[in-house]
Amino acid sequence: AQALLTPGDLAGVRVVVSAGGTREPIDPVRFLGNRSSGRQGAALAAEAAARGAEVTLVSANISGEVLAEVRHPSIRVVSVGTAAELSEAMTHESSLADVVVMAAAVADYRPAAVSERKLTKEGGGIPAIELVENEDIVAALASQRRSGQLVVGFAAETPEDASELLARARRKQHRKRVDLLIVNEVGWERGFESPENAVHILGPNGADAGSASGSKRAVAAAIWDAIARAR
Ligand code: CTP
Ligand code: CA
Repeated sequence: AQALLTPGDLAGVRVVVSAGGTREPIDPVRFLGNRSSGRQGAALAAEAAARGAEVTLVSANISGEVLAEVRHPSIRVVSVGTAAELSEAMTHESSLADVVVMAAAVADYRPAAVSERKLTKEGGGIPAIELVENEDIVAALASQRRSGQLVVGFAAETPEDASELLARARRKQHRKRVDLLIVNEVGWERGFESPENAVHILGPNGADAGSASGSKRAVAAAIWDAIARAR
């Protein structure tokens, strides 16, 4: 009952969270993708809604099962497939947002041409798929941010050691001009598809804003604490 009477610390805050991973079509039956399940981003949306925010979750290929876990009256879901669709949705949805969190794993490249018909082995030879670079969505959002709006990026890294992890992350934060960067160490067994996560948080200007580990919901709570401190 207390939760119904006490407004959360994000009451009335307009939040847009992207989550999941883009899929770049090769032909009608194949795509280039990545292993992001969308669970960390979905947990961020759920945590923000529980704390009173008005949330738009831009879902890039998140399964119905994961989305069902985070249904909430204050979460509106917008579904996208490719990086180009994600870019368009984020530009549109973030125009009135107070906080934009870019947790989606975006394909860095897409096939230069999408085959209208399924590629087959009949022609012989191993096909080469020419790639072109996708736009950096979070960098574009950060460069267009309205005054008072916070833009939060993520970085999934597979570093050789901890100091390399943070040095790379700080360069990435500076390059993209995001206010906060959530740094995720990932590997074959870590980060993806798992219920647990561990992150470092870089605050404005690369300042150490702490770290968090545990369930993706617990990590989401720590990330919103850091965002609330930076606002
Ligand atoms: N991102 C984006 N648009 C892209 C690629 C990445 O908005 N085309 C965002 C991701 O959603 C994430 C942040 O940028 O919030 C960092 O993504 P990451 O893949 O770690 O960064 P890249 O700049 O693509 O660098 P890398 O070469 O390490 O992949
Ligand atoms: Ca990338």
